[in-house]
Amino acid sequence: MNKIQDVQQQLRQHSYHWLVTGAAGFIGSNLVEALLKLNQRVTGLDNFATGHQHNLDQVRELVGEAAWSNFTFQQADIRSPEDCARACTGVDFVLHQAALGSVPRSIANPQLTNETNISGFLNMLVAARDAKVKRFVYAASSSTYGDHPDLPKVEDRIGKPLSPYAVTKYVNELYADVFGRTYGFESIGLRYFNVFGPRQDPNGAYAAVIPKWVMALIRNEELRINGDGETSRDFCYVDNVVQANLLAAMAGSDAANQVYNVALNDRTSLNQLHTMMTGLLAARFPHVAAHKPTYVDFRKGDVRHSQADISKAATLLGYAPTHRIGDGLKQAMDWYVDNLPR
Ligand SMILES: NC(=O)c1ccc[n+]([C@@H]2O[C@H](COP(=O)([O-])OP(=O)(O)OC[C@H]3O[C@@H](n4cnc5c(N)ncnc54)[C@H](O)[C@@H]3O)[C@@H](O)[C@H]2O)c1
Repeated sequence: MNKIQDVQQQLRQHSYHWLVTGAAGFIGSNLVEALLKLNQRVTGLDNFATGHQHNLDQVRELVGEAAWSNFTFQQADIRSPEDCARACTGVDFVLHQAALGSVPRSIANPQLTNETNISGFLNMLVAARDAKVKRFVYAASSSTYGDHPDLPKVEDRIGKPLSPYAVTKYVNELYADVFGRTYGFESIGLRYFNVFGPRQDPNGAYAAVIPKWVMALIRNEELRINGDGETSRDFCYVDNVVQANLLAAMAGSDAANQVYNVALNDRTSLNQLHTMMTGLLAARFPHVAAHKPTYVDFRKGDVRHSQADISKAATLLGYAPTHRIGDGLKQAMDWYVDNLPR
């Protein structure tokens, strides 16, 4: 039995109380779904800044009414210390996902990103510490590698942040570390690398590349590639991220108060991604085969290449990704085809 199967079995035998912040968002709703399927008790917190009620409705449908009865939702804001304290009451594990994502959003409005991602994060840390939760697992980010040139990215070699968003995610790590040293508080930061999968929002100016492109391809609209298309990323299917969160929550204290890369140790250029996506969608939408992208300027704040060394998560957490990019893309495309309004 591998580590995640072992953890899943432990969870099936014992129901804990989990708080998932950002529960109505993409990653948060996938965490809620996985936990409810393992018969866990879950509190979800979200203010619907970028999350949606329809994500929670879909989770309800997928888990069924019996499991759904173990879910409680609090429409609340992590910028309020009182909301955070209320949500942490009686909680065993916190999976903190609530934040404002997107590099361009943070460049357009650095203060709002700061209030949510730094003040909100600190409020959650204080509330979780005061509620004496067993473990605080939080969404960190590959953006923390900034301008460091090394590939693959190793956790302790970071450069200068390239955007306000990257600053906020790095400050999260610094605060979590200081809480470990000064209060003996146990946390684990998971540096996600370009996560994708069901329920990732395709709409809005700050949509991530995969959902934005699916929409453009299906609707036969213009699809823009920033730069020459050779910019590359370690795209990570959301099931791998769910796995990392469960492992991090249940890992022993020796693995705590550290950060871990969560991805595949793989690198896919935007041009390759375009080819893979058109290949998958062309079977259902013949017009997609002839679709050509429009190349535009490089985007401010973007790193050129990104690829994770995942050996630390593999060794200390037992992380073993189940989905390579091709498997994940297939599942994600199927979900979008079934769920996107045309
Ligand atoms: N998706 C990725 O590729 C990726 C990569 C690195 C890190 N992350 C991090 O993972 C986490 C989840 O991201 P996601 O992709 O699911 O984004 P998302 O926008 O779908 O989810 C974020 C959720 O947080 C909620 N939220 C925002 N501000 C809030 C506030 N003040 N109070 C309460 N809730 C609030 C939003 O409404 C939303 O539901 C974020 O912390 C993000 O920075 C994501």
